[in-house]
Amino acid sequence: MAISLTVNGEKRMVDGDPAKPLLWVLREDLDMVGTKFGCGAGLCGACTVHVDGNAVRSCQMALGDVQGMAITTIEGVQATDAGKRIAATWVAQDVPQCGYCQAGQIMSATALLAQTPKPSDADIDAAMMGNLCRCSTYVRIRAAIKAAAE
Ligand code: FES
Repeated sequence: MAISLTVNGEKRMVDGDPAKPLLWVLREDLDMVGTKFGCGAGLCGACTVHVDGNAVRSCQMALGDVQGMAITTIEGVQATDAGKRIAATWVAQDVPQCGYCQAGQIMSATALLAQTPKPSDADIDAAMMGNLCRCSTYVRIRAAIKAAAE
């Protein structure tokens, strides 16, 4: 079944099972491997993308659920103002350690900044609590979000 979606501003047609998780559609059908598989159960946040501007777990959304919707991935987020600011402060704060979770962290941080330009510590905690980091880069993540909001 052919399903149309917009990915990073480009119309794409995907001929596939409507029940296939968006994560695997992005990685396998559209060759966009920046979005990572962590747990596959909605628990780690590694697979976070934006759907119509909201941060969502792509492992928990089916292709059929996002028909006609606008999806932004780590490959396209720097085209947005919030994405540019987050990318710059992520580098300045030297946030990543192993790096595996960072695409998901950046997608959650960018959605937060786009929706709440001056987030409080509580806003940051609420937005980022679903994104786990085994290297525990949380202090640098918070500093990068705060710097991007200045
Ligand atoms: Fe989707 Fe962990 S891979 S939340």
